[in-house]
Amino acid sequence: MMPSMMDVLPNGEETGDFFAVDIGGTNFRVILVSLSEKRGEVARFEMEEFAIPEEYFSCHADRLFDLLADSLVTFAKRYGFSGNRTAPVGFCFSFPVDQTAVDAGTMIKLTKKFDNEGFVGSDPVQMLQRAILRFKAPFKVVALLNDSVGTLAGACYEDPNAKVGVILGTGTNACYVEQVANIATLAKGSTKRQTMVVNTEWGNFTAASLPITEVDREMDETTPNAGEYHFEKMVSGMYMGEVARRIILRLAEEAQLFGPSVPDELRVEWALSTPAMSKIVEDGSWTLSRTAQILAETLHLPPSRCTYSACSTVKAVCLMVSRRSAALVAACLAGLLCHIGRDGSNGAMQETTVAIDGGLFEHFDAYREFLSEYMEQMLGPEVAAKVQLKRIRDASSMGSAYLAAAVTASSE
Ligand code: BGC
Repeated sequence: MMPSMMDVLPNGEETGDFFAVDIGGTNFRVILVSLSEKRGEVARFEMEEFAIPEEYFSCHADRLFDLLADSLVTFAKRYGFSGNRTAPVGFCFSFPVDQTAVDAGTMIKLTKKFDNEGFVGSDPVQMLQRAILRFKAPFKVVALLNDSVGTLAGACYEDPNAKVGVILGTGTNACYVEQVANIATLAKGSTKRQTMVVNTEWGNFTAASLPITEVDREMDETTPNAGEYHFEKMVSGMYMGEVARRIILRLAEEAQLFGPSVPDELRVEWALSTPAMSKIVEDGSWTLSRTAQILAETLHLPPSRCTYSACSTVKAVCLMVSRRSAALVAACLAGLLCHIGRDGSNGAMQETTVAIDGGLFEHFDAYREFLSEYMEQMLGPEVAAKVQLKRIRDASSMGSAYLAAAVTASSE
């Protein structure tokens, strides 16, 4: 649970041109937003998205920041930004950061696939600013934020009921608006405002009651951040496919799922991606032919080994892993809503928006249904009906630009 130092949220009154750089999963983005004089109107929105080249997950941090700065500068030129005056940039950096100001913080650790030297202990804003300087470009990084915070900010711009921001993508996280008086770790005098967004970093949640299995532990050992982020590893898109593969492998070894021998291909770590797994979950064909096809394409299992019975077990495993993720997310979300008094326990339940961004939520239709189902179980149908799980595409990138705007406006 970390104060984000974000005590202003955009309200649609901001105006001007703002850039954002957004990195954290498997892609990074640069965006330009022009906010017009008309309240809430986005006059212009340009965005470029790039897959992070494989070597950048383990190179020195400086190289990664050079890539970001270079992309920002090239992008700005392409869209006719003249550079006569310094442009504000919101930096969405989706890792745990000990934030000391709206535009400063210390990187705590790396997560997901990232394993770069030179990050931990440094200030991401200074690193990006230094990289921008190397390109002699007129940008000033004015806001540093987590993607969950960007998502909430993106939603607040158009929806005053937005109180929680959630990421369900490569990684997972949530943030919410907290009363400053409740934030014990915040240094006195840090803000004059009443509320601040708290980044829960729920990916690193763990508790004796979190049902971590042997399979989870085995997978954990192969990750760059072994021993940490157990919740994220049970929930998010980077890991679900791999958890399912490991269970399927066990069934092949211990219960001859694919016949007397275990197909070697099943032993290849990370071979089953979450998108492929989600297609298996959503296979509605009578014969489970789609499942057999995916097993052939991703794990190279010959069709002769993918009997109906094997496919239906594979599907059951994928379903179980997906449902487990959705149930855990619903439990934490219900806990968060309870904490902020939006669970119906304080009398009349107010309409509440949970803004959600990330590929897992966006592309996996069945997952969204599971999540709604478990939310209803946790909160009861009447309260759950007042909680809108709102999919907000590109919210973290948009929100970063809006926050750059809000921060600029509040300091003028
Ligand atoms: C990071 C969070 C981030 C989440 C979603 C996690 O691995 O620690 O800061 O918000 O992924 O991108």
